[in-house]
Amino acid sequence: MFEHYDIQKMPGHWLLARMGKRVLRPGGRELTMKIIDALDINADDSVVEFAPGIGSTAQLIFARKPQHYTGIDQNEEAVNHLASLTNNHRYNFINKNITNSGLPGLCASVVLGEAVLTMQTEERKEQIISEACRLLQRGGRYAIHEIALRPDDIQNGMKNEIQQKLSEKIHVNARPLTTHEWTLMLNKCGFRIIKILTNPMHLLKLSRMIRDEGFMRAAGIAFRIATTPHAFKRVKGMRNVFDTYEHYMTAISIIAIKE
Ligand SMILES: C[S@@+](CC[C@H](N)C(=O)[O-])C[C@H]1O[C@@H](n2cnc3c(N)ncnc32)[C@H](O)[C@@H]1O
Repeated sequence: MFEHYDIQKMPGHWLLARMGKRVLRPGGRELTMKIIDALDINADDSVVEFAPGIGSTAQLIFARKPQHYTGIDQNEEAVNHLASLTNNHRYNFINKNITNSGLPGLCASVVLGEAVLTMQTEERKEQIISEACRLLQRGGRYAIHEIALRPDDIQNGMKNEIQQKLSEKIHVNARPLTTHEWTLMLNKCGFRIIKILTNPMHLLKLSRMIRDEGFMRAAGIAFRIATTPHAFKRVKGMRNVFDTYEHYMTAISIIAIKE
């Protein structure tokens, strides 16, 4: 997938996907597993996943056998790939923007979206969270998995510096919020927070890579990064930003209920 993108310009998550990385969210597989457990997805659920990307969480959701599943991603190649992951006719993939999914209101008991809000503007973040609220039935569960800045009273200068460095190196407009700001935004859009989980931002650390991908796959990814022109420089740049600002950033998941 994504062979035609230019390595020097492509968004960081697609670069890592092209190098063979399957787990592309900040808190890794560990945080995703905790989210799946907290959501307690079962055979009665209708699940909507925002931006499933290459589908690693989608497959964990399928293993829980929900009644319905709909994955919505704006990348057509991703959607075509996702469709090849299941032949269950109650599981669908839609090539659309999640700010306006086109799905009927109240169609879901669970909405999940990972590594998709951080890269949006404030206005878009709110649109997406409001869309989750529109889709959910009352009492429905919503989970996000994003980057949070810390502490809650982080200086504006540092916040801007981190946002600028992330955008520069990942090539997407990364605008993480503090935990307090994420919860305020969810409350404003109609959600009550029931759980907050965190994990260090170790997406590109070797130990996390091995835990996320397995030893053999992690070795293959490292080899591809080292031997693909321009890839090493780009990944090193991303890793440097994560290391430099490690104390100011964490992976966060918030589980909320539609009031
Ligand atoms: C970093 S990946 C995250 C993928 C997946 N959730 C994961 O954690 O591995 C970003 C994905 O979000 C999708 N995406 C970003 N903004 C979107 C939007 N507004 N509507 C639909 N999909 C979007 C991209 O196409 C891409 O597949």
